[in-house]
Amino acid sequence: MDTRRPLIAGNWKMHKTGSEAAETARQLISLISPDSADRDIMIAPTFTALPPVAEVLADGPVALGAQNIFWEDEGAYTGEISGPMLVSAGCSHVIIGHSERRQYFGETDTTVNQRIAAAIRHGLIPVFCIGETEEERESEQTFSVLDKQVATGLKGFSSNDLGALVVAYEPVWAIGTGKTATSEQAQEVHEYLRSKIENLLGSQLAGSVRILYGGSVKPANIAELMAMPDIDGALVGGASLDAEVFSQIVNF
Ligand code: PGA
Repeated sequence: MDTRRPLIAGNWKMHKTGSEAAETARQLISLISPDSADRDIMIAPTFTALPPVAEVLADGPVALGAQNIFWEDEGAYTGEISGPMLVSAGCSHVIIGHSERRQYFGETDTTVNQRIAAAIRHGLIPVFCIGETEEERESEQTFSVLDKQVATGLKGFSSNDLGALVVAYEPVWAIGTGKTATSEQAQEVHEYLRSKIENLLGSQLAGSVRILYGGSVKPANIAELMAMPDIDGALVGGASLDAEVFSQIVNF
Protein backbone atom coordinates (compact mmCIF):
# COMPACT_ATOMS: atom_id res chain seq x y z
CA MET A 1 0.00 0.00 0.00
CA ASP A 2 1.43 3.35 -0.98
CA THR A 3 1.43 6.05 1.62
CA ARG A 4 1.14 9.43 0.11
CA ARG A 5 1.39 12.50 2.28
CA PRO A 6 -1.71 14.65 1.75
CA LEU A 7 -1.26 18.13 0.30
CA ILE A 8 -3.80 20.88 0.85
CA ALA A 9 -3.03 23.85 -1.36
CA GLY A 10 -4.64 27.27 -1.62
CA ASN A 11 -4.67 29.14 -4.91
CA TRP A 12 -5.30 32.79 -4.16
CA LYS A 13 -5.52 33.70 -7.85
CA MET A 14 -5.64 37.49 -8.44
CA HIS A 15 -6.69 38.37 -4.89
CA LYS A 16 -4.97 40.23 -2.04
CA THR A 17 -2.21 42.82 -1.95
CA GLY A 18 1.08 41.94 -0.28
CA SER A 19 -0.02 43.17 3.12
CA GLU A 20 -3.45 41.51 2.88
CA ALA A 21 -1.86 38.23 1.84
CA ALA A 22 0.69 38.40 4.67
CA GLU A 23 -2.12 39.00 7.16
CA THR A 24 -4.15 36.04 5.88
CA ALA A 25 -1.03 33.85 6.00
CA ARG A 26 -0.41 34.93 9.60
CA GLN A 27 -3.99 34.08 10.59
CA LEU A 28 -3.81 30.75 8.80
CA ILE A 29 -0.69 29.68 10.65
CA SER A 30 -2.34 30.47 13.98
CA LEU A 31 -5.32 28.27 13.05
CA ILE A 32 -3.48 25.15 11.92
CA SER A 33 -4.05 22.31 14.32
CA PRO A 34 -1.05 20.38 15.71
CA ASP A 35 -2.87 17.28 14.39
CA SER A 36 -2.29 18.55 10.85
CA ALA A 37 1.46 17.86 11.04
CA ASP A 38 0.86 14.73 8.93
CA ARG A 39 0.04 16.74 5.81
CA ASP A 40 1.67 19.32 3.57
CA ILE A 41 0.09 22.74 3.26
CA MET A 42 0.82 25.29 0.55
CA ILE A 43 -0.51 28.70 -0.41
CA ALA A 44 0.00 30.42 -3.75
CA PRO A 45 -0.51 34.17 -3.55
CA THR A 46 -0.02 36.55 -6.44
CA PHE A 47 3.57 37.42 -7.47
CA THR A 48 3.82 40.76 -5.65
CA ALA A 49 2.72 39.09 -2.41
CA LEU A 50 5.37 36.36 -2.54
CA PRO A 51 8.15 38.17 -0.58
CA PRO A 52 5.95 39.44 2.29
CA VAL A 53 4.19 36.07 2.57
CA ALA A 54 7.55 34.24 2.45
CA GLU A 55 8.60 36.27 5.46
CA VAL A 56 5.49 35.21 7.39
CA LEU A 57 5.83 31.55 6.41
CA ALA A 58 9.57 31.23 7.11
CA ASP A 59 10.40 27.92 8.79
CA GLY A 60 6.72 27.25 9.48
CA PRO A 61 4.44 24.43 8.35
CA VAL A 62 3.08 26.20 5.27
CA ALA A 63 4.95 26.16 1.97
CA LEU A 64 4.91 28.95 -0.59
CA GLY A 65 3.85 28.46 -4.18
CA ALA A 66 3.54 30.66 -7.26
CA GLN A 67 0.76 30.57 -9.83
CA ASN A 68 2.90 30.43 -12.96
CA ILE A 69 6.48 30.14 -14.24
CA PHE A 70 8.08 30.94 -17.58
CA TRP A 71 10.34 28.39 -19.26
CA GLU A 72 13.32 30.68 -19.88
CA ASP A 73 15.42 31.86 -16.95
CA GLU A 74 15.75 35.48 -18.09
CA GLY A 75 15.42 37.66 -21.13
CA ALA A 76 13.09 39.90 -23.07
CA TYR A 77 9.81 38.27 -22.00
CA THR A 78 7.68 41.15 -20.75
CA GLY A 79 5.26 40.15 -18.05
CA GLU A 80 6.70 36.71 -17.37
CA ILE A 81 8.48 35.38 -14.29
CA SER A 82 11.25 32.81 -14.12
CA GLY A 83 12.23 29.88 -11.94
CA PRO A 84 15.25 31.63 -10.35
CA MET A 85 13.00 34.59 -9.46
CA LEU A 86 10.45 32.33 -7.79
CA VAL A 87 13.11 30.41 -5.90
CA SER A 88 14.71 33.63 -4.68
CA ALA A 89 11.27 34.84 -3.55
CA GLY A 90 10.98 31.75 -1.35
CA CYS A 91 8.78 29.47 -3.45
CA SER A 92 9.00 25.69 -3.26
CA HIS A 93 5.94 24.96 -5.42
CA VAL A 94 4.44 26.34 -8.60
CA ILE A 95 0.99 25.85 -10.10
CA ILE A 96 1.23 25.14 -13.82
CA GLY A 97 -1.46 24.96 -16.49
CA HIS A 98 -4.40 26.11 -14.41
CA SER A 99 -7.56 26.14 -16.51
CA GLU A 100 -7.80 29.92 -16.18
CA ARG A 101 -4.34 30.18 -17.79
CA ARG A 102 -5.50 27.85 -20.54
CA GLN A 103 -8.81 29.65 -21.02
CA TYR A 104 -7.75 33.31 -20.86
CA PHE A 105 -4.02 33.38 -21.59
CA GLY A 106 -3.47 30.91 -24.39
CA GLU A 107 -1.76 28.24 -22.30
CA THR A 108 -1.50 24.98 -24.22
CA ASP A 109 -0.41 21.46 -23.33
CA THR A 110 2.90 22.23 -25.03
CA THR A 111 3.61 25.41 -23.05
CA VAL A 112 2.55 23.57 -19.89
CA ASN A 113 5.18 20.96 -20.72
CA GLN A 114 7.84 23.67 -21.11
CA ARG A 115 6.85 25.26 -17.81
CA ILE A 116 7.02 21.92 -16.00
CA ALA A 117 10.54 21.48 -17.38
CA ALA A 118 11.53 24.87 -15.94
CA ALA A 119 10.05 24.02 -12.55
CA ILE A 120 11.99 20.74 -12.40
CA ARG A 121 15.19 22.43 -13.52
CA HIS A 122 14.95 24.83 -10.58
CA GLY A 123 13.86 22.30 -8.00
CA LEU A 124 10.31 23.64 -7.72
CA ILE A 125 7.45 21.19 -7.16
CA PRO A 126 5.15 21.46 -10.16
CA VAL A 127 1.43 21.36 -9.41
CA PHE A 128 0.29 20.32 -12.86
CA CYS A 129 -3.37 21.18 -13.48
CA ILE A 130 -5.63 19.30 -15.86
CA GLY A 131 -9.35 18.94 -16.31
CA GLU A 132 -12.19 18.77 -18.78
CA THR A 133 -14.83 21.39 -19.56
CA GLU A 134 -18.53 20.79 -19.06
CA GLU A 135 -19.02 20.39 -22.81
CA GLU A 136 -16.24 17.79 -22.97
CA ARG A 137 -17.74 15.85 -20.06
CA GLU A 138 -21.20 15.93 -21.61
CA SER A 139 -19.88 14.63 -24.91
CA GLU A 140 -18.02 11.84 -23.08
CA GLN A 141 -14.60 13.16 -23.95
CA THR A 142 -13.37 13.46 -20.36
CA PHE A 143 -10.84 10.64 -20.56
CA SER A 144 -9.56 11.48 -24.02
CA VAL A 145 -9.05 15.12 -23.02
CA LEU A 146 -7.18 14.09 -19.87
CA ASP A 147 -5.11 11.58 -21.86
CA LYS A 148 -3.90 14.33 -24.15
CA GLN A 149 -3.25 16.80 -21.34
CA VAL A 150 -1.21 14.22 -19.42
CA ALA A 151 0.65 12.77 -22.40
CA THR A 152 1.71 16.17 -23.77
CA GLY A 153 2.21 17.85 -20.40
CA LEU A 154 4.56 15.10 -19.21
CA LYS A 155 6.23 14.41 -22.56
CA GLY A 156 9.97 13.90 -22.51
CA PHE A 157 10.36 13.43 -18.77
CA SER A 158 11.58 10.32 -17.00
CA SER A 159 10.00 9.07 -13.81
CA ASN A 160 13.11 10.37 -12.01
CA ASP A 161 12.50 13.87 -13.33
CA LEU A 162 8.96 13.74 -12.02
CA GLY A 163 9.68 12.43 -8.53
CA ALA A 164 8.19 15.56 -6.92
CA LEU A 165 5.30 15.96 -9.38
CA VAL A 166 1.86 16.84 -8.06
CA VAL A 167 -1.14 16.53 -10.39
CA ALA A 168 -4.28 18.56 -9.78
CA TYR A 169 -7.45 17.29 -11.38
CA GLU A 170 -9.77 20.25 -11.68
CA PRO A 171 -12.89 19.73 -13.77
CA VAL A 172 -13.42 23.17 -15.31
CA TRP A 173 -17.16 22.97 -14.70
CA ALA A 174 -16.53 22.69 -10.95
CA ILE A 175 -14.15 25.65 -10.56
CA GLY A 176 -15.73 28.58 -8.77
CA THR A 177 -19.20 27.33 -9.64
CA GLY A 178 -20.21 25.70 -6.38
CA LYS A 179 -20.69 22.47 -8.37
CA THR A 180 -18.27 19.96 -6.88
CA ALA A 181 -17.67 16.69 -8.61
CA THR A 182 -19.04 14.00 -6.33
CA SER A 183 -16.30 12.17 -4.51
CA GLU A 184 -17.12 9.11 -6.62
CA GLN A 185 -16.81 11.10 -9.87
CA ALA A 186 -13.47 12.50 -8.69
CA GLN A 187 -12.22 9.09 -7.52
CA GLU A 188 -13.08 7.55 -10.90
CA VAL A 189 -10.93 10.14 -12.68
CA HIS A 190 -8.09 10.00 -10.13
CA GLU A 191 -7.88 6.23 -10.46
CA TYR A 192 -7.82 6.59 -14.22
CA LEU A 193 -5.06 9.22 -14.03
CA ARG A 194 -2.95 7.03 -11.79
CA SER A 195 -3.25 4.15 -14.24
CA LYS A 196 -2.41 6.48 -17.12
CA ILE A 197 0.73 7.64 -15.27
CA GLU A 198 1.59 4.00 -14.59
CA ASN A 199 1.41 3.25 -18.31
CA LEU A 200 3.52 6.25 -19.23
CA LEU A 201 6.05 6.34 -16.40
CA GLY A 202 5.87 3.15 -14.38
CA SER A 203 4.27 1.87 -11.23
CA GLN A 204 6.68 3.48 -8.79
CA LEU A 205 5.81 7.01 -9.83
CA ALA A 206 2.13 6.11 -10.20
CA GLY A 207 2.13 4.89 -6.62
CA SER A 208 3.86 7.94 -5.19
CA VAL A 209 2.46 10.80 -7.27
CA ARG A 210 -0.02 12.93 -5.41
CA ILE A 211 -3.22 13.69 -7.27
CA LEU A 212 -5.18 16.61 -5.84
CA TYR A 213 -8.79 17.37 -6.54
CA GLY A 214 -9.83 20.97 -7.22
CA GLY A 215 -13.17 22.61 -7.91
CA SER A 216 -15.41 24.08 -5.21
CA VAL A 217 -13.68 22.29 -2.35
CA LYS A 218 -15.01 23.55 0.97
CA PRO A 219 -15.08 22.51 4.64
CA ALA A 220 -18.30 20.58 4.03
CA ASN A 221 -16.90 18.28 1.33
CA ILE A 222 -13.18 17.89 2.10
CA ALA A 223 -13.47 14.86 4.39
CA GLU A 224 -15.56 12.93 1.90
CA LEU A 225 -13.14 13.69 -0.92
CA MET A 226 -10.10 12.79 1.18
CA ALA A 227 -11.65 9.45 2.12
CA MET A 228 -11.26 8.31 -1.48
CA PRO A 229 -8.23 6.09 -2.08
CA ASP A 230 -6.79 8.03 -5.01
CA ILE A 231 -7.50 11.58 -3.79
CA ASP A 232 -4.36 12.81 -2.08
CA GLY A 233 -5.27 16.39 -1.38
CA ALA A 234 -7.02 19.47 -2.67
CA LEU A 235 -6.30 22.60 -4.65
CA VAL A 236 -8.64 25.18 -3.19
CA GLY A 237 -9.53 28.53 -4.77
CA GLY A 238 -12.37 30.58 -3.30
CA ALA A 239 -12.47 28.79 0.04
CA SER A 240 -8.74 29.36 0.62
CA LEU A 241 -9.04 33.17 0.72
CA ASP A 242 -10.43 33.27 4.24
CA ALA A 243 -8.00 31.90 6.83
CA GLU A 244 -10.74 30.59 9.10
CA VAL A 245 -12.50 28.70 6.27
CA PHE A 246 -9.26 27.42 4.73
CA SER A 247 -8.01 26.23 8.12
CA GLN A 248 -11.11 24.06 8.43
CA ILE A 249 -10.16 22.44 5.11
CA VAL A 250 -6.51 22.06 6.15
CA ASN A 251 -7.51 20.54 9.49
CA PHE A 252 -10.16 18.25 7.93
P1 PGA B 1 -12.45 26.97 -6.54
O1 PGA B 1 -11.14 27.05 -7.46
O2 PGA B 1 -12.07 26.24 -5.28
O3 PGA B 1 -12.82 28.41 -6.29
O4 PGA B 1 -13.49 26.24 -7.32
C1 PGA B 1 -10.25 25.96 -7.54
C2 PGA B 1 -9.10 26.34 -8.44
O5 PGA B 1 -9.31 27.02 -9.45
O6 PGA B 1 -7.94 25.96 -8.18
